[in-house]
Amino acid sequence: MPYQTGSALTSAILLLAVLILAGTAGGTDFFNLPAPLPPDQYGNIVINRISTKNGVKPVSFSHRIHRMRYTCRVCHAELEFNMKTNSTEISESSSRSGRFCGACHNGKISFKHNGNCDRCHNGDMEAGGDKFAELEKLPFPRTFYGDGINWVEAVTQGKITPLNHLKVKSTSIPFDKTLLLEAEWSIIPPVIFPHKEHTAWIDCDGCHPDPFNIKRKTTQHFSMSAILRGEFCGECHLNVAFPMNDCKRCHPGMKDDKKMPGL
Ligand code: HEC
Ligand code: HEC
Ligand code: HEC
Ligand code: HEC
Ligand code: HEC
Ligand code: HEC
Repeated sequence: MPYQTGSALTSAILLLAVLILAGTAGGTDFFNLPAPLPPDQYGNIVINRISTKNGVKPVSFSHRIHRMRYTCRVCHAELEFNMKTNSTEISESSSRSGRFCGACHNGKISFKHNGNCDRCHNGDMEAGGDKFAELEKLPFPRTFYGDGINWVEAVTQGKITPLNHLKVKSTSIPFDKTLLLEAEWSIIPPVIFPHKEHTAWIDCDGCHPDPFNIKRKTTQHFSMSAILRGEFCGECHLNVAFPMNDCKRCHPGMKDDKKMPGL
């Protein structure tokens, strides 16, 4: 008992010390969270590995528009796009031979590469914003953070049924265990990791063995600072899935009274 009190006290003093050092008691400032993009741009990326070098404007890509119709698996497993902007060797010739964007932008599933240059090569981070306005009018489950859409609810309520494959079916076995990840500091409410909400979008090999080893309990390595550098949960929860500002969604014991208007 004296030991327990001691360790809780040490943690409390530690947290207090960090908060004072950071000069604030707000979690957001404390962790130096990246300023989130406005909802109509959250999840948008501009691809420019080879575009300007070859005299065309960079390519805009909206995750929101695409994930309404396809799971992450389709692009990030089946079509072999990496989850890191400008790291995949996309080119006009690869797309025109049916790979990458060309697996769908072929004139059958969606507009083709010939003659639609500006729809992709516009260098515009805000591209797709007009469609966002249409979306906002729909009775879509909302959140206060990220792109403002609660994608878990959107799937559960059947508002969207994103395709899980184009040609190659997933061979993943179902697994729906929810894990409780205890933070090292006893005063921090634990984190939940639900498998079901993830495997709706991502196959097992999207996370195992990299970045999460299922055999070894590696939880002590996934601190908030590592996550904010883009590791572990931060691979997706900084720019596409709901962002780190939404503390309560991962730490259900934390307080949060922010709600979307109308909820
Ligand atoms: C229609 C295809 C498509 C779908 C669906 C898709 N992505 Fe992506 N994603 C891309 C492309 C293309 C890139 C950029 C790749 C490159 O430039 O090398 C990307 C990049 C990313 C990045 C890196 C972002 C950054 O800022 O560097 C993350 C993270 C990501 N995707 C996560 C996801 C998640 C999570 C899902 C599912 C909810 C998803 N993606 C669904 C095509 C897709
Ligand atoms: C898995 C299929 C698929 C892949 C892969 C894909 N797209 Fe799309 N994309 C679509 C579909 C379908 C639409 C139409 C969505 C709509 O009309 O609501 C679309 C819409 C778009 C739009 C919106 C254009 C507009 O109407 O304003 C852009 C831009 C775009 N895609 C760019 C890309 C780029 C760039 C890539 C590759 C990095 C890519 N897409 C890969 C299926 C795909
Ligand atoms: C569906 C989206 C899309 C459309 C439509 C599209 N492109 Fe691209 N294009 C890309 C992507 C993605 C890349 C890779 C961008 C990068 O990494 O910088 C690319 C790369 C390029 C490059 C770089 C050099 C090379 O050989 O790959 C050129 C030049 C180019 N496109 C020209 C065009 C022209 C001209 C058109 C219209 C006739 C066009 N593109 C239509 C998505 C598109
Ligand atoms: C979005 C990422 C993600 C996906 C996708 C995912 N997992 Fe996990 N998985 C995790 C994390 C995080 C842990 C906890 C790791 C730790 O504690 O070190 C975990 C742990 C596990 C464990 C250990 C459970 C325990 O009780 O300790 C098993 C078994 C497992 N996953 C199986 C699967 C299977 C099977 C699939 C596909 C159906 C899958 N996972 C998909 C992230 C993922
Ligand atoms: C490979 C991408 C990826 C990784 C890595 C990942 N997630 Fe997720 N996570 C998602 C996506 C996609 C969703 C669906 C919701 C969304 O897109 O906003 C999701 C949903 C969740 C939900 C469900 C929220 C709800 O409303 O039910 C929780 C909780 C969560 N993630 C926590 C975590 C934690 C904790 C980690 C790290 C241990 C993690 N995630 C790692 C992509 C990822
Ligand atoms: C995407 C999920 C996710 C979100 C969102 C999230 N956290 Fe965490 N947090 C984690 C994980 C995972 C750990 C490590 C837990 C463990 O040690 O098992 C963690 C650990 C912590 C710790 C313990 C110290 C450390 O660095 O490990 C603190 C404090 C913390 N989070 C505060 C916050 C605050 C404040 C917010 C909101 C601004 C937040 N978290 C949002 C997943 C998340």
